[in-house]
Amino acid sequence: MIRTKKISFSYTEYEKTEELDSESLELVRAARDAALNAYAPYSKFKVGAAVRLESGIIVRGANVENAAFPSGICAERSALSNSVSNHPDDKPVAIVIASMTEDGITTDPPSPCGNCRQVISEEESRTGTRMKIILSGKNKTIVVDGINNLLPLQFDRNNLKINLP
Ligand code: THU
Repeated sequence: MIRTKKISFSYTEYEKTEELDSESLELVRAARDAALNAYAPYSKFKVGAAVRLESGIIVRGANVENAAFPSGICAERSALSNSVSNHPDDKPVAIVIASMTEDGITTDPPSPCGNCRQVISEEESRTGTRMKIILSGKNKTIVVDGINNLLPLQFDRNNLKINLP
């Protein structure tokens, strides 16, 4: 039997940043602030991420590049490594990603790379909690409820439950 299945995903788009609720707006400001601390001499593309934990604490991260390119780290992974390392029992409930070039905040909202999607997925699995993922452009903002909407058919801990011979 052959079946073709379809996966759909949804997101909410805001035309203006100010249309977001106040908690999300605060997180957008933190992510933009974090981007200012990025070390991105090679790409000149500065990314900031701000993670809100269940307790209300906001943890920031920025991309940190390296002359050996693969040794660089993205803002999302930087922020999540920071939050897991320093607040392991406080669950991330939202993450904002913002980016800027030499011309300022990018018009288009940044979208997390595949590696970062995988790391967000692991964090949702670890905590058993979906994250509100907010991709913030200069005005246009995309809000996604949970990594399932960005990474379908993801590889996660369930895939490792295999019966080895
Ligand atoms: N970057 C991030 O920090 N997050 C992403 O999701 C996409 C890309 C960084 C990596 C690199 O330092 C720069 O943006 C250009 O790719």
